[in-house]
Amino acid sequence: MELAPVGRAWPHHMEFQENIPLSALTTFKIGGPARYFIRAVTAEDVIDASAFAKEKGVPFFAVGAGSNLLASDNGFAGLIIKIEIPGVSFEERATEVLITAGAGERWDAFVDATVKRGLYGLENLSGIPGSVGGAPVQNIGAYGAEAKDTIVSVDTIDSETGAPRRFSNAECRFGYRDSFFKTADGKRYIITAVTFALKKNGKLNLEYRDLKNYFARSGAAKATLANVREAVLEIRRGKFPDLAIYGTAGSFFKNPIITKKQFDELKKRFPDMPGFPAVADSRISDVGRRGQQEEAVKIPLAWILDNILHYKGVAAGEVGSFKAQPLVLVSRGEGRAADVRRFADDLAAKVLKATGIAIEREVECF
Ligand code: EPU
Repeated sequence: MELAPVGRAWPHHMEFQENIPLSALTTFKIGGPARYFIRAVTAEDVIDASAFAKEKGVPFFAVGAGSNLLASDNGFAGLIIKIEIPGVSFEERATEVLITAGAGERWDAFVDATVKRGLYGLENLSGIPGSVGGAPVQNIGAYGAEAKDTIVSVDTIDSETGAPRRFSNAECRFGYRDSFFKTADGKRYIITAVTFALKKNGKLNLEYRDLKNYFARSGAAKATLANVREAVLEIRRGKFPDLAIYGTAGSFFKNPIITKKQFDELKKRFPDMPGFPAVADSRISDVGRRGQQEEAVKIPLAWILDNILHYKGVAAGEVGSFKAQPLVLVSRGEGRAADVRRFADDLAAKVLKATGIAIEREVECF
């Protein structure tokens, strides 16, 4: 057995830290200490970090911007690998540009760079507070666009073997806020880079209600890549909490997908309840598309929270439902993971009681 040199962590060039608070690594600003912590700035670092976790016999958890996580108050008894792999490269094609970005790039800075280059496809996903590597994991989506619409492939390291593996778009098995990387089999792959195909002369997607309204007010003729980005940023500013004040991970639950029959029953009790055509297995886009195999309906949970439960701005201690968007749970000051979980469980129970719908978490709790 090879021993690490005295006073140096193994692998030699990496500095593993201990007892780093997860509250400093997540936008919820909640979470106890991570037993071990390392920053990975290259794919090789990822290989070494997963080897370290194996050697120590502890689990690992890869963190990007920490914007969709609720970490336990007890922390994590393993290795947190903070993915900070940088770099963006462009490859010109006839009608598209292929862009490969390091998993550690900040999502919105990346979107901004593509919009400034005049490339179409990511503008509706402006303002999402995550990292590039997080985008495929939960197939981020907003304002009628999803990451899966532009992702060509995802580069990973298999933590079991240390070998690189590239996943095609189909292999990622994207669904509504879902992918292979969220499954038990998928968790062994650590994302190091993502390749997108963006159009040089694309079409703007202004179908989502909020965007449509925005441009109806300001004149749809003037819509350009740059001002669609501005519009999305402005809409988001009105709905999402300021991270300087609140801890949050955005929508805490997914919008539920129910059967057409269930929807029709609910409509008798709540005639104004909106619903969008969807597919039953929940693998659908944000807006919902017509003409897919099974008749199912996606309901905006925010509508149920607002109009049936009157939950906007409702709080219990330091934790509450955000006043401008009730699906967004927020924490202030001394809020703890246990408080968020209690609040969320109670909310889920109320939705079930009022509508018969069992809702699912969108935020990853660990
Ligand atoms: N609504 C209300 N009251 C409210 C807010 C919304 O009744 O206070 C109803 C309205 O009918 C509205 C509908 O809910 O049209 C949808 O609301 P919104 O457009 O704000 O979006 P959402 O369905 O609540 C989803 C995503 C967001 C994404 C937005 C915009 C999920 C779980 N959430 O929210 O994503 O930004 O659409 O596309 O799918 C996230 O994933 O963390 C996230 C924030």
